[in-house]
Amino acid sequence: MYSNSLIELDRAHLVHPVTSYRSHERAGVRVLRSARGATVTDASGHTMIDGFAGLWCVNAGYGHDSIVEAAARQMRELPYATGYFGLGSEPAIRLAAELAERAPGDLNHVYFTLGGSDAVDSTIRFIRYYHHAQGRPQKDQFISVAQGYHGSSTVGAGLTALPAFHAGFGVPFDWQHKIPSHYAYRNPAGTEPAAIIAASVAALRAKVEQLGADRVAAFYVEPIQGSGGVLVPPPGWMKAMRDVCHELDILFVADEVITGFGRTGPLFACSDEDIVPDLMTTAKGLTSGYVPMGAVFLSDRVYETIADGAGASAVGHGYTYSAHPVSAAVGLEVLRLYENGLLENGRKAGERLMAGLRGLGDHPLVGDVRGRGMLAAIELVVDKERKTPLPAASDPARRIFDRAWDNGLIIRAFGNGVLGYAPPLCCTEAEIDAIVERTRMTLDETLEDPDVRAALA
Ligand SMILES: Cc1ncc(COP(=O)(O)O)c(C=O)c1O
Repeated sequence: MYSNSLIELDRAHLVHPVTSYRSHERAGVRVLRSARGATVTDASGHTMIDGFAGLWCVNAGYGHDSIVEAAARQMRELPYATGYFGLGSEPAIRLAAELAERAPGDLNHVYFTLGGSDAVDSTIRFIRYYHHAQGRPQKDQFISVAQGYHGSSTVGAGLTALPAFHAGFGVPFDWQHKIPSHYAYRNPAGTEPAAIIAASVAALRAKVEQLGADRVAAFYVEPIQGSGGVLVPPPGWMKAMRDVCHELDILFVADEVITGFGRTGPLFACSDEDIVPDLMTTAKGLTSGYVPMGAVFLSDRVYETIADGAGASAVGHGYTYSAHPVSAAVGLEVLRLYENGLLENGRKAGERLMAGLRGLGDHPLVGDVRGRGMLAAIELVVDKERKTPLPAASDPARRIFDRAWDNGLIIRAFGNGVLGYAPPLCCTEAEIDAIVERTRMTLDETLEDPDVRAALA
């Protein structure tokens, strides 16, 4: 009764992100009721392991009373403080300082946003301003990577390279360009890391040459491409791209919205490769999804150039909720939890997850297993030799998501038959093993589907 009426209200009034509105109306919402640790329970009482940490964001796991207390304390004391007019609040100042201390290199300046999309959007404004401040307004062309995701704002969606975010929206703009992804499993350059890196370097150089280095403002990467299907570049790829940008005087932006805060092991994935970007975006794990918040990190050089360029004038970029004290209080507590055991647990659990998923490599449907830390994917195929995807007509995304759900596991099932994993860092060994086991069960059931069987034959 309760949930039926909610389904009706949802159908009538709530517009969901990135969904077919009509399909959603037909299917109806699945209401989640509660969560604890790495498990969530729906309105019918069905409990599942959340193998995707909400939307790769609840890195700390659910139900931490200390986070709830930190938010409640802050709400009682000072629920809001603007950063305009030279004002501020203690938790936001402290969080900026703690983050700057831990961020790679000289990323010492933090601008807080509400999430990842407006963090990316803010970088575009900062970068434009930076080049204007140096008297180079013509440096206004932006390059990103095919299959990349950089959010859903009007300009950020044009850096995003996923068709659903473009069609019907009039993006990308003519100043937004792409180079091919490193996608190792299906790279025309082959599977050798050196060949993949060389191909990407050549593609970036060629794109810059085509546009003119004096026109290119910035190059955006995700340390691991998340929404494009968890595409992991070979070791050395990020460094090689960063070096090209340095040489050609192009700002290098690392979008760590997914990879930040322990998702791949360290606090920031850039540390895996000793990379210091010029700007870095984060969100999601920053507050572990308990409240909204994102952060843009600016290097000393970028910050100082903007500051000097503006002089006594205001840098006209701001949000009412930038540096929100409640979000910042949550961010501080989440950071404490990460460093008091969660990062360590996530590293161990990540190794177990990768080993477990690699163990599925012998399954007839598994073509590729990839990932790092608690961020992983398996790519399903019906012919391992030819790497033939599952038949699109079998609607793998819907079917496998539903099946995993029934088997007590939430995963991300991409449209092309890629299954994504990003469990909370608090997972126990038993939970990691259950994620792998429930995946195998789901794959075995899918193998029995007549259309999948026919495609295999
Ligand atoms: C790499 C990356 N950048 C930006 C975003 C946008 O973040 P948000 O959904 O918080 O706006 C996402 C979201 O998944 C992301 O994965």
